[in-house]
Amino acid sequence: MSRPYTLQGRVALITGAGRRLGRAFALGIAECGADVIIHYGRSGVAAAETAAAAQALGVRSVTLQADLAQPEQVRSLLPRAAQALAEVDLLVNSASLFEPLDAMDTTLDTWQRHLDVNLTAPFALSQSFAGRLGESPGAIVNLLDWRALRPGPDHFPYTVSKAALAAMTRAMAVAFAPNIRVNGLALGAILPPADGGDAEKALQGVPVARWGTVEEAVQALLFLLAGPSYITGTILHLDGGRHLT
Ligand SMILES: NC(=O)c1ccc[n+]([C@@H]2O[C@H](COP(=O)([O-])OP(=O)(O)OC[C@H]3O[C@@H](n4cnc5c(N)ncnc54)[C@H](OP(=O)(O)O)[C@@H]3O)[C@@H](O)[C@H]2O)c1
Repeated sequence: MSRPYTLQGRVALITGAGRRLGRAFALGIAECGADVIIHYGRSGVAAAETAAAAQALGVRSVTLQADLAQPEQVRSLLPRAAQALAEVDLLVNSASLFEPLDAMDTTLDTWQRHLDVNLTAPFALSQSFAGRLGESPGAIVNLLDWRALRPGPDHFPYTVSKAALAAMTRAMAVAFAPNIRVNGLALGAILPPADGGDAEKALQGVPVARWGTVEEAVQALLFLLAGPSYITGTILHLDGGRHLT
């Protein structure tokens, strides 16, 4: 697919890019001409397929495995990426845990795992990214959820972790300026959870009254990565208006 942006000469790391939205983000970035590093946790076969699909678009691509709940594995990701391909200058924090737990079901263990994967890993990766880039230009996009700015009782540890990630997005936009832009993409109903979920419930309260498409999510991501470079600290909602109702 032809894209309205060029990212030629850039190197992107996309977490959780073996399948689902992460895969689509990686291929959208590759379509703009950037080399892509496909991070995965358990989906090694799917990650290899994503990398092959990126290579078929004419860019370089490698896969890297890391458990984002393990701080030493998170810390090693960018040095490994630089060794395997090149220094990363675009970071997309897409990997996430999304478990249907309410406040009373949430144990300390499930709480900690959501914070580790959804907040601590993006923090450590972004800090390492900024440290390695120094004065060079770069961009980070954190994948958020409409729930991040409208926290409710469902998916309790997930929602709290995404709310904190939204706060971190804004704080880092200031901390890492002027050379690194940091933005958030807050999604609504794009893809039902891998384990099914309640597809009908997902549309309740969505003014636009339909699911968003994966292509719309990719377009929004590319806008934040490669669009006007005066945008930083923004949280762009792609949720059919769900955060307003
Ligand atoms: N889907 C939607 O409609 C929707 C709506 C709102 C927000 N979002 C946000 O958009 C992003 C992408 O959504 P998605 O639905 O594609 O996500 P997803 O399928 O729920 O998760 C993406 C990937 O995260 C990785 N992951 C989870 N725990 C990990 C760990 N400990 N270590 C390494 N990787 C780990 C998994 O990789 P492996 O499979 O390789 O283990 C998984 O494939 C997420 O941040 C999500 O919160 C999505």
